[in-house]
Amino acid sequence: MNEKCNYTKQAENWKRNSPISLSDFVARPFLFSEIKNILKNKAVLDAGCGEGYFARKIAYKCKSITAMDLSKGMIKIAIEQETETPLGIKYHVGNVLNLKQIPDDSIDVYISSMVVHYLLPKDLNKFYKEINRVLKKNGQFFILLCHPNLIDLYKDDSKKAIKLKNKIIDLKDYNKKGLYYEIIMKTINNKSLIVGFVNYDLEDHKYSINNNNLKLNYIKEITVPKIISLEAPIYSDLIGDKMYLFFKGKKI
Ligand SMILES: C[S@@+](CC[C@H](N)C(=O)[O-])C[C@H]1O[C@@H](n2cnc3c(N)ncnc32)[C@H](O)[C@@H]1O
Repeated sequence: MNEKCNYTKQAENWKRNSPISLSDFVARPFLFSEIKNILKNKAVLDAGCGEGYFARKIAYKCKSITAMDLSKGMIKIAIEQETETPLGIKYHVGNVLNLKQIPDDSIDVYISSMVVHYLLPKDLNKFYKEINRVLKKNGQFFILLCHPNLIDLYKDDSKKAIKLKNKIIDLKDYNKKGLYYEIIMKTINNKSLIVGFVNYDLEDHKYSINNNNLKLNYIKEITVPKIISLEAPIYSDLIGDKMYLFFKGKKI
């Protein structure tokens, strides 16, 4: 599978140890609050870990943590940070659709933060099949992804078209399921991060979860909280907007 968004080229811009983007302020803290009390004595997999920002946040709480990503550049930075400040995170390059370095039934907690919206609808079954394979019985999975509403941020004044990274497209075309597009996210330190998104249906997730002996316990639409006006005022216009989705489930 080819790297989408050229993460390797942008890897330096993603390098961080404190929040810089909307998802760092809103989505990842939600994920952290959901898992922080269940990691003790657990073997954890961070699938699509990027340059390791979230893995570093939770490493001290887990028994062991493996983190992997498709982008060689992101993993290179993650390993450099691990060498500088060792936290015991084992990194490798790989694909969430084929976790060949992870043995069957070996993981207690599977995390995937802001990765699933890069997968095509046709790949979701493979994605959940791999979760089922690597999780121990009753092992839990936690998934963060962009909410379809996120695209509202990129509508032009007419509200009928969307400004993507290199082009403007009609809303009618955007609505086609499976379309992949890239957008530019501003960070609080004035950098631009390119992020990608495949148009998906919740039904596809539900079908693939049920089809792979997994149970979805909880879905949450994550809303931008009021405190953002103090923490990162550039995102204040978004207070109350639903920008991310969170799935929690287990292997049965
Ligand atoms: C927005 S970043 C999120 C990184 C990290 N999980 C976090 O929350 O900070 C998306 C990451 O997903 C990775 N990715 C996309 N498709 C992937 C795949 N099929 N397998 C593994 N990683 C993938 C990209 O390389 C990129 O590093």
